[in-house]
Amino acid sequence: MKVVAGNASPMLALKVAEALNLKLAKTTFKKFPDSEIYVRVEDFDDVNIVVQSLNCNEDVVSLMLLFDALSDTEIIAIIPYMGYARQDKAFEDGEAVSIRAIAKLLESYASEIITVNIHSKDAAGHFNKLVDLDAMPIIGNYFKEQDVVMLSPDFGSYERVKIAAKAANCDFDYLEKRRIDAETVEITPKSLDVEGKDIVFVDDIISTGGTMIEASKMLLKSGAKSVRAVCVHAVLANYALNKLYNAGVTEVIATDTVEKVVSKISVAELIANEVK
Ligand code: R5P
Repeated sequence: MKVVAGNASPMLALKVAEALNLKLAKTTFKKFPDSEIYVRVEDFDDVNIVVQSLNCNEDVVSLMLLFDALSDTEIIAIIPYMGYARQDKAFEDGEAVSIRAIAKLLESYASEIITVNIHSKDAAGHFNKLVDLDAMPIIGNYFKEQDVVMLSPDFGSYERVKIAAKAANCDFDYLEKRRIDAETVEITPKSLDVEGKDIVFVDDIISTGGTMIEASKMLLKSGAKSVRAVCVHAVLANYALNKLYNAGVTEVIATDTVEKVVSKISVAELIANEVK
């Protein structure tokens, strides 16, 4: 068995390989002048674990090409961040259900698909053979025994935060969020006593940062001592990191499902244990 590192997940793939005591296959990624992608995999095995997050369109094409290069072998697909999962239904007539298309692609090549905190149950419902791992306990462990209050920016993430808070052994609650459009959210204050408290916001994704920014501003205004923004998937689109720090967020912390400078918590062991 070999581990094949996709272009989007080289560091996590190496950590997974180390945790499983396996070797990485040799990969070559190139881009032609017209931006077409070229992929080559050497030294692969009969069974191959492909690790590739789907952060952007290019990652999907690269994954397709990796699958094709390995098409005579058994493939276990590790998709740490399952992009396209937020379009999990047709909200308007004629819309593509993006995650359904991704599920078809993955299932046509892989014998097993492992992901981490897919966006919703509806998104997971488009797969027949998906294992959805939960990073909340390891996020909770990172804050173990720290004197913090964990908050979910909306009720949708409340159950997740409960799991993280249980592992951290700290208090937790949620705020109320209304999404106005893809980049604008409105957070309604709850009667929480945040005065002098160190707040840890936990969400599945920080994309534009809009959710965390609004929530953080509101809490800092209400007297919170500090606000840290924590997520599984640090998508951080449209200069989100700069905007978060400008809004007064003390620190942004994420797992390495999306490899970014804020990826301080690794999901490698979580994934390796599932493969084992
Ligand atoms: C929403 O359902 C998710 O849990 C996140 O709150 C959302 O995707 C974050 O997006 P943004 O960072 O753009 O506010």
